[in-house]
Amino acid sequence: MNEIKMTQIRVEEQDKKNRQGQSPSFFIHTFGCQMNESDSEHIAGLLISQGWQKVELPEKSNLAIINTCAVRAKSVDKFLSLLGRLKEIKKKRDLKIAIVGCVAQLEGENLLKLRPEIDYIFGPDNYLEILKIINHQAKAVATNWSHQWREHPLTQIHRESQVSAYVPVMEGCNNFCTYCIVPFVRGREKYRPARMILEEIKRLADQGFLEVQLLGQSITSYHDPESGKPLAELLQEIAQIDGLIWIRFITSHPKNLSKEIAQVMATEKKICRQLHLPVQSGSNSILKKMNRGYTREEYLEKIAMLRELMPDISLSTDIIVGFPGETEKDFEATLRLLEEVRFSNIFSFRYSPRPLTAASRWVDDVPFEVKRRRLIDLQNQQKKIQLENNATLVGQIMNVLCIGRSQKTPHLYCGRNEAHQVINFASPIEVVNKMVKVKITSFGPYSLQGELVAE
Ligand code: 5AD
Ligand code: SF4
Repeated sequence: MNEIKMTQIRVEEQDKKNRQGQSPSFFIHTFGCQMNESDSEHIAGLLISQGWQKVELPEKSNLAIINTCAVRAKSVDKFLSLLGRLKEIKKKRDLKIAIVGCVAQLEGENLLKLRPEIDYIFGPDNYLEILKIINHQAKAVATNWSHQWREHPLTQIHRESQVSAYVPVMEGCNNFCTYCIVPFVRGREKYRPARMILEEIKRLADQGFLEVQLLGQSITSYHDPESGKPLAELLQEIAQIDGLIWIRFITSHPKNLSKEIAQVMATEKKICRQLHLPVQSGSNSILKKMNRGYTREEYLEKIAMLRELMPDISLSTDIIVGFPGETEKDFEATLRLLEEVRFSNIFSFRYSPRPLTAASRWVDDVPFEVKRRRLIDLQNQQKKIQLENNATLVGQIMNVLCIGRSQKTPHLYCGRNEAHQVINFASPIEVVNKMVKVKITSFGPYSLQGELVAE
C-alpha cells in the first residue's frame, strides 16, 4: 500500500475516533539516564498538547514509544525484551511502535528492517518532528543530526514531578572516552542559550517547583553560546531566582570541574552541596587508556579542593570494572581510591564493548567471571563505607524534599535530602511535593529512615 493511501486511512480512523469522543493514547517507557527521562517528558508534552492521552499500559495505547539507552549492552537487552512484548500486543490489536533515543540513533534504518513490527524511529535531534511525521507517514526513520540547539516549546512539557524539574542545558559530548558510545549517538556538544535556560527556570519557580536539576552529558564544559559565560556564572544567576530551594547539575567531568564552579557551590546556599563526579577507575594506566584526561592524583586534588571549600559535600561516582587490560593491581587501585574518597554513593558497571567506540577494537580480555567478582568486591567494600557514613547521620534533622510514597512500604513517604540520599520517613500529615524536616532514626547502606519533625 502506498504511503498516501495509508495516511488517508489513518486520518479517517482518527476522525472516527474523534467523532466517538476517544482521543488517541500513547504509552512511553524510558530506559537510561536523566537526559532520556527529560526527553520523554518533552515527547509526552508534544503529544498531549495535540490531544493525545498518556496511558500506563501499552495494551491500552494506540502508540507505544520506547526511549532507548545504548550506553551498556544490558540496557539494549532490556529494550529488546520490551519490544518483544509490544510485538505480541501488536498481533492482537492496532498498535504503532516508535523507537526513540540512543539505540534509535545508532541503528536507524537497520532497526526498521530487522524488526518490521517497528513503525517509527526517531533520533534525539528529531523529537520536534514527531507529530508531523506520525500524522502524515505510516512508517518513517528520522535520525538527522542538528548542529545547533533546538529549543523545545516550554508549554509542551509533561513533567512527571510537580516539585522537581529536569532542565537540559546542553547535549552531546566531545570527550570521546574510549569505552563510551555517547558522542556517537548524541553527537558533539551543543549548548542551550543561557537566556532560554533562565526563562524556563523562572517559569518553573513561578509554578511552584522547588528543585531544578540541570542536565548535560558533560555539563562542566557548558558555556553560553551567545555570551560565552561558563557554567559557574550560569549557576550564580540561577541561584538568584526567587522560589527555588535546590539547584543541582549533572554530570560533571573531573577534568573541567573548575574552582569557580566549586566556589559558587560553596557560597550560594541554593546550590546543593552534592556532586556526581565519575572517576571510572583508580588506576592511572586504565584512566589513560580510557582517555579520561586526568590522573588519579589530579582527581584526588579536585576532591581535596571541593572538600576544602565544602567539608560537608556529598560525592558520588561511576566506576567501570574489567576495562580491557585491567589487572588485579589496577582494580586494587580503584578499591583504594574508594576507601580514600569515601563517596556517599557509587554506580558501578562491568565493562561491555560498545559499537563505534575505540575500546571496542581492543580485546575484551578480562573474563566475565573476573569482571563479576570485581564488581561484587567493589560493591561490598562500598556498602561498608556507606553503612559507616550513614551511621553518623542518626539523630540529625535534615531538609527532605518529599517526592511520593515509598514503593516498598507505602505507609512511609519517600524523599531526598540535599546530599541526594533516599529517605523513607513516617509522617502523620500528607507531605508529598513538600520540603519538610525529617529526623533520621535508622539507616541502611542505600537509604535512611526517619520521622517528620513538626516545624
Ligand atoms: N561499559 C560499561 N560501563 C559503561 N559506561 C559507559 N560506557 C560503558 C561501557 N562501555 C558507564 C560509565 C558512565 C556511565 C553512565 O555508564 O561509568 O559514567
Ligand atoms: Fe561518555 Fe566520557 Fe562523554 Fe561521559 S564524558 S558521556 S563517559 S564520552
